[in-house]
Amino acid sequence: MKKTILTGLRPTGNLHLGHYFGACQNYLKLQDDYEFYLEIADVQALTDNFNNPEKVRVNVYEITKDLLAIGLDPNKVNFFIQSKIPEIAELTVYYGNLVTVARLQRNPTVKNEIAQKKELFGNSGESITYGFLGYPVSQAADITAFKGELVPVGEDQLPLIEQCREIVRKFNSIYGETLLEPVPYLSENKRIKGLDGNEKMGKSLGNAIYLVDDEDTIKKKVMGALTDKNKIKKDDPANPDVCMVHYYHKLINSYENTKIVEEECRKGCRGCVQCKKELIVAMNNFLKPIQDRRKKYEENPELVEEILNSGTKKAQEKAKNVMNDVKKAMKIDY
Ligand code: TRP
Ligand code: SF4
Repeated sequence: MKKTILTGLRPTGNLHLGHYFGACQNYLKLQDDYEFYLEIADVQALTDNFNNPEKVRVNVYEITKDLLAIGLDPNKVNFFIQSKIPEIAELTVYYGNLVTVARLQRNPTVKNEIAQKKELFGNSGESITYGFLGYPVSQAADITAFKGELVPVGEDQLPLIEQCREIVRKFNSIYGETLLEPVPYLSENKRIKGLDGNEKMGKSLGNAIYLVDDEDTIKKKVMGALTDKNKIKKDDPANPDVCMVHYYHKLINSYENTKIVEEECRKGCRGCVQCKKELIVAMNNFLKPIQDRRKKYEENPELVEEILNSGTKKAQEKAKNVMNDVKKAMKIDY
């Protein structure tokens, strides 16, 4: 029997290269060999976008199209919408008894997100809602509702998987062996840097390259990239290791081309403008097949709807079975 994968994405914006080279490449790699549930986490997105429901709704479809565009096969991956699985909400309530408020406040991912929000909006700690603080509990419900064994994620998600594992152990020790402890599956590229040199690419950081970016947008973004600051003139020798243009050549361009970039840069026979222009070409070539595949779904939104409906149906069946086990274990199977 195939093992089960459960993973999820918050529908708050389009996918960018950080997603692609992070978890998404693993989705592609794993889709053939697992029973795969891919959750579009609208409920989780609402925990910090509750006052912006339109944004979440639009992005449910945007992110699904992005995921199909990268080459995920809807015959292999069950795409589903979180809010259509009431068992997840139900499990969240029961798991709420198995985790302390202090533990949630110590969760590094939650802590980080709270700090980021404070930086952006100057929020005081008091404005953190019960729902937001509790989202790791809800994420544990996401995973366990499908007896998810493997969870492909970016490294920022590790504390959430750990929290899930703790909840599973606590549940099993009180109510008997019922749930599975999931294992995270990390990507080789732990984190993709931004073109600006930031350690992370992110929407809130304003440095993301989206899979849907058109040629003009790519041009603008690449032209503004951070290069070796010590290179003043076109024929100054420079250090490609500190240059984001080189970093992206490595990520996207062929091995041979990247070697040329590196050598010529060190020797001082390569100008940065030329180097950026070549990266723009490589980036557009990289994005072209993704955007071509996406077009089919943009032109036929009913296809996306069908994919979400059939995936959601499969997810509903699975979650119902797990819920029965949970209720039996908790002696609430009236
Ligand atoms: N928290 C994840 C994110 O921020 C999304 C997510 C929701 C998820 N439920 C999940 C990831 C379950 C892995 C497993 O993108
Ligand atoms: Fe970067 Fe290319 Fe300029 Fe070297 S030549 S500093 S690799 S942009």
